[in-house]
Amino acid sequence: MTESPKWSRRRLLAAGGIGLLGLATAGPALLQSFSGAAEPLGPQWFCGPYQGGPVLDTQGTPITLPHCPVTLSWRDWRPAAWERTWVYRCRFDAPPAERLFLDIGAVLTSSAVFLNGQRLGGRIGGYLPYTLELSRLLGPQDNELVVVVDGQWQQNVPPNRPHARNPSAIDFYQPAGMYRPTRLRAEPALYVRDVFARPMDVLDEGRRRVEVTTGLNTTRPPAEPVTVSAELLDGERVLAAVSTRTRLTAPGEHQVRLTLSGLAGIRLWDVEEPQLYRVRVRVHGGAERTVRIGFRDARFREDGFYLNGRRLQLFGLNRHQWYPYTGGAMPDRVQRKDAEILRGELGCNMVRCSHYPQSEAFLDACDELGLLVWEEAPGWDYLGDVVWRARSRRDVRDMVLRDRNHPSIIIWGTRLNETGEDAKLYTVTDEIAQRLDGTRPTSGAVRYMRREAKRARAYASARRSQDVFAYNDYSDPRTGLQPPRADLPYLVTEAVGAMIGPGHYRRTDAAHLQSTQALLHAAAHDAAASDPEYCGLLGWCAFDYPSSWKHSIDGMKWAGVCDFFRIPKLGAAFYRAQRDPAREAIAEPGFYWDFGKPLPEHGPGRNALIYSNCDTLTMALDHGPPRELRQDHERFPHLRFPPFRADLEFRGHRPVELRLDGYLGGRLAITRRFSADRSADRLEAVCDDSELRADGADASRLVLRAVDRFGAQRTHASGDVLLESTGPVRIVGDNPFPIGRTGGAGAVWLRTMAGEPGPITVRARHHLLGSATVRLRAR
Ligand code: GAL
Repeated sequence: MTESPKWSRRRLLAAGGIGLLGLATAGPALLQSFSGAAEPLGPQWFCGPYQGGPVLDTQGTPITLPHCPVTLSWRDWRPAAWERTWVYRCRFDAPPAERLFLDIGAVLTSSAVFLNGQRLGGRIGGYLPYTLELSRLLGPQDNELVVVVDGQWQQNVPPNRPHARNPSAIDFYQPAGMYRPTRLRAEPALYVRDVFARPMDVLDEGRRRVEVTTGLNTTRPPAEPVTVSAELLDGERVLAAVSTRTRLTAPGEHQVRLTLSGLAGIRLWDVEEPQLYRVRVRVHGGAERTVRIGFRDARFREDGFYLNGRRLQLFGLNRHQWYPYTGGAMPDRVQRKDAEILRGELGCNMVRCSHYPQSEAFLDACDELGLLVWEEAPGWDYLGDVVWRARSRRDVRDMVLRDRNHPSIIIWGTRLNETGEDAKLYTVTDEIAQRLDGTRPTSGAVRYMRREAKRARAYASARRSQDVFAYNDYSDPRTGLQPPRADLPYLVTEAVGAMIGPGHYRRTDAAHLQSTQALLHAAAHDAAASDPEYCGLLGWCAFDYPSSWKHSIDGMKWAGVCDFFRIPKLGAAFYRAQRDPAREAIAEPGFYWDFGKPLPEHGPGRNALIYSNCDTLTMALDHGPPRELRQDHERFPHLRFPPFRADLEFRGHRPVELRLDGYLGGRLAITRRFSADRSADRLEAVCDDSELRADGADASRLVLRAVDRFGAQRTHASGDVLLESTGPVRIVGDNPFPIGRTGGAGAVWLRTMAGEPGPITVRARHHLLGSATVRLRAR
């Protein structure tokens, strides 16, 4: 699983001017680092830029992991800031254990680990984990772990591509750092290295079973045969168990296969009820490992996608993993929040992890929430040379090995995003997924907009090696999508995005442009629902992301239906309104109710759209009589909940208040009110969580919004919001926060301090909007 970066002299020189002298004194070991595990490793981590001299001597300042070595903004990232070598270090006393492992979640772009001055290993490539055994070089006390991180642009690492070592050569920035959790793990001499628990024939009660493949590793083969057992658990209740005795004759790796059967009573995992079970493997003598699974049957067919035998229209968005201020370095809670937003707030049943494996915390949340996942290996529009391809094959292997127990993952992207056909490479990557998993289809998104010939070739090649034909369809959805193909299951993996219509949707943009976003996403999903041969559609994209590629402005792609802070924009109105009304009635205008600069003086227009899942929607202006609105079945014949149309153009008198009442089965289910009177506007501050872990890494988002008297979003605000905090908290983000420049909404994150529990208060103040206070607690 591990690969050693080559810290060539040339690279080191490029990295930050390590001279020949420095290199000589650096000795055999260049760097090293650490991290926290089930238990975070070490009392304290330090990080600093390499500045010459022996690399391992770089000191640095105290930090917490996950970590990005530079402070970033909410736009205009400057890659030069992280494009260098960074040294992470920590000291720790060895816990009493026969074997000690270091699990490193992911490091951009490559890393090498040193323990007590000796090099242990490393990895080139920034999206997948690696594990190193520390035992050999470990002393009882005061061990020094150093991780040397090369944050420079490395062309020969997927997903990177040429273009003069320019980090904006692909569509997303990739800031350096130990940005995912790192864990220290104690194990006995004989331990369970890996468990793959594969539910089979899940729809057939008689044959339903879990095939468990266990990897054992030992330094000392026991004299007697060992008993290896597997149990299927529902909470703590054992539903099925099986065991075997096996003789381990040599040190090293051993594989044991067991089958759990007699599973008639189990409940299926579904998007609505994502039932999870655990499989625990134990080795007599103490070692054990538990994985989480779900029983579901997921099939892509020519006539659509089927989950547990029922056709399900796939409805979702693409997600990039980047955040303001910290790059990719957000703790598990914040990663999970994205899944909650996608599933809970936006009603998606699927997400595409574009364009690399994302955090395990995010995938865990997808399992728990019933959010189906397309996971793909790092790639974007480019295939490199032999070395690059070898790394890509390795990525596919490591992705499948890391994530094959997740029931939410229904397809592997073993063909890299928007790359041409390479039968040799893709036959191998498909085979890797089949060999290591064998329960999921493979695919890879292609896009050929104008060149039909090329597209036809891609289609033809797809016939050879794709289970699902996945198309990034950047047609204007108002005039329809490309037709699905009849001979292969067909999924639209991207649509709308930055290339159709305005392409950028900032709250500071003209209101009519912002309104187009919901309309385009609605049109795209309507088209995808027009023919059962579309398995579904994943819009581009969930959240704004940093980029300096085509169509970017101020170093950002503003194509998200939520902004970079994950605050919904008008495009989110459409998604929210497709949710099951039994969960929540929705009435979301596809416009802002406000007049005059920067909004249209005459109101939202004659054909304003209101997105709702109610059967009846009425509108009242200024306490006048409610008028029933019509659903726009003409333009959106295939949507379950087409938007309602309202004439909201005002040439004379402009009403102040808009009221919407939504009815379900004849009963009032939701009332929304909006005010054009700015005099009662106020500041709203809401934190996602009320309780955090006092570990110095845990964090929660604090959303700041300018709202009208009813709590509806305003898009204009001036100046800044000043934040004052008390208690054990660090504000990650701009303070003062420039709410004027972000169009009346934004966020910072509140991070705890290690070992300092207690109440936290943050007061937000704005010179015109007043103040708001949030309270939470670190435990
Ligand atoms: C697609 C690509 C996405 C994104 C988009 C532009 O072709 O797959 O990653 O770059 O274009 O917004």
